Order: sequence, then structure tokens, then C-alpha cells
Amino acid sequence: MGTILITGAAGSIGSMLRPRLRGPERRLRLLDLVPLEPGPAEEAVQASITDLRELTAACTGADAIIHLAGIADEAPWDKIAEVNIQGTYCVFEAARRAGVSRVVFASSNHAVGFSPAVDFPVADYAFPAPDTYYGVSKASGEALAALYHYRYGLDAICLRILSCAERPKGVRELSTWLSPDDTGRLFEACLTTPRPGFRVAYGVSANTRGGWVSLDEARSLGYEPLDDAEPFAAEILARDGEPDLSDPVHAYLGGTFTLPALDADRRS
Ligand SMILES: NC(=O)c1ccc[n+]([C@@H]2O[C@H](COP(=O)([O-])OP(=O)(O)OC[C@H]3O[C@@H](n4cnc5c(N)ncnc54)[C@H](O)[C@@H]3O)[C@@H](O)[C@H]2O)c1
Repeated sequence: MGTILITGAAGSIGSMLRPRLRGPERRLRLLDLVPLEPGPAEEAVQASITDLRELTAACTGADAIIHLAGIADEAPWDKIAEVNIQGTYCVFEAARRAGVSRVVFASSNHAVGFSPAVDFPVADYAFPAPDTYYGVSKASGEALAALYHYRYGLDAICLRILSCAERPKGVRELSTWLSPDDTGRLFEACLTTPRPGFRVAYGVSANTRGGWVSLDEARSLGYEPLDDAEPFAAEILARDGEPDLSDPVHAYLGGTFTLPALDADRRS
């Protein structure tokens, strides 16, 4: 697959993907609000995903889009609506206008954050149960992906990513970690699997303490996770202790995002 447009390429996942998605027949077009220094076989575009005109121009000649740009955390409704919902609409609409045939959308476990732990593993295509405005924006992005697939024939893959980081940062991430190399494997599978249609899959490594979500759909796309958070367990447990499973933070997939601290009337 020739030219891949990556929105939000300056961020954490974009920076992990750049070296891992390089290939002899491939160019990476890196789009972000902030300036980026392109490397070999890369080009950079400084633009906002909320600008449909600029985004359509950036899509021209691209074979696929990896859509990462946005607010990657909970935020006030107006910001989430403007950047994550309107911005994601612009990405799909720009893809349609420019004739890009495939979009891989970075969704999140927070689209289904209120999935109860007693029902783990959460199924592929579990109906949205967002835990925050952020989670709503991911469910809305999944709905846009479905619309642009069923109405316009785009291949649209939504990845409900759990915790993508260089290393797991706490006890919870011993279960939810997605390693940088597995991130590369997952997105590569999404770019190269033939005619995927509309798909929803989870993004997580092969963690010994995992099993919180289904990996069936990710595997059917060609992803095989090779990393495991377990080598980090001794150090993390020595520092943080064993988890208290009666703590409400463990009741749902979304963890801290499901707690009352994020209720609208408790936030400024
Ligand atoms: N990191 C994770 O564990 C994780 C888990 C689930 C989902 N995700 C999703 O994956 C995507 C990437 O996550 P990340 O951790 O790299 O986030 P990040 O915050 O590191 O990167 C986001 C990037 O988007 C850019 N951006 C923000 N608004 C923009 C706009 N209007 N136009 C263009 N660029 C804009 C930012 O400048 C930044 O470089 C996000 O959509 C996030 O919600 C991440």
C-alpha cells in the first residue's frame, strides 16, 4: 500500500508507528497541528483535522488513512465535540471526497468503558457503553466509520485500543498494555488485510493478566500479539502492591474513567 496519511502523527502512537510502518514501497504523510520533521520517505502537513478543505487536500493521492489525531483524554464537551467528533467527521468526509479507500480509526476501550468486569472478555462489536464524553466521541467515530462503509463502500476499521505505552505504568496496565511493537503489528495488519469492510477490534498485547477483551476480530485481521506486560509485574507490584479487587476502579473496563470524579457536576 503506497501512501499512508497519519493524522496526529506527532503524538505518542504516531511516533511509535513511524519507524514501524516504514517500507520500501511506502510513503508516510504525517499530519498534525504541530510542525513535524519528515524523515526518509515521509512528508509533513501542518493542518487541523477540523479543516475539511485542508484535510481533503492532504488526502489526495493517499491509499489509506490512520486517524489518530484528537484529544486523547476526557475534556469539556465543547472541545470533545469540536475536535474528536467534528474532526473525525472531517476525516471520513475528506477520505470520501479524495477517494481514499481505507480508514483505520483509533477508537478506545472507553467507547465501551462501562462493560462490567464480571462479563470479561468484552465481545468484539459490544454495543457502546461510553464512560466519558471522550468515550462518546469514540463511539461516534465508530458510527461514522459504519456510515462511510455502508453508504460509500470505504473499508473502515475501528481499533478499541486499551493502554498503548512504551511500558505498563501501573497494575491495571499489566492487563491492558499494548506494546509499541504490537501496536506496529496491529496497524500493519489493518493496512494490509484484503478488503476488511467495516470492523471493530480491540488493541492489546498478549498479557498474562489479560483476557479483558476479545482478540478474535483483531486476529482475523491478521494481528498476532507477541508482547506481554508480565516481565514488568514484579517491579510494579513491589511498588504499588496487589490490586484490591473490591475497589470500584476494577468494576468496569474503563477503570478510573468510570469513577464519580468524572461526573459533570464534580468537575470545574
Ligand atoms: N495512547 C493510548 O493508550 C490510547 C488508547 C486508546 C485510544 N487512543 C487514541 O489514539 C489516538 C492517538 O493517541 P496518542 O496517545 O498518540 O495521543 P497524543 O495526545 O499523544 O497525540 C494526539 C495528536 O493529535 C494531535 N492533534 C490534536 N488535535 C488535532 C487537530 N485538531 N488536528 C490535527 N492534529 C491534532 C496532537 O497535536 C497530537 O500530536 C487518539 O485518538 C487517542 O484517543 C490512544
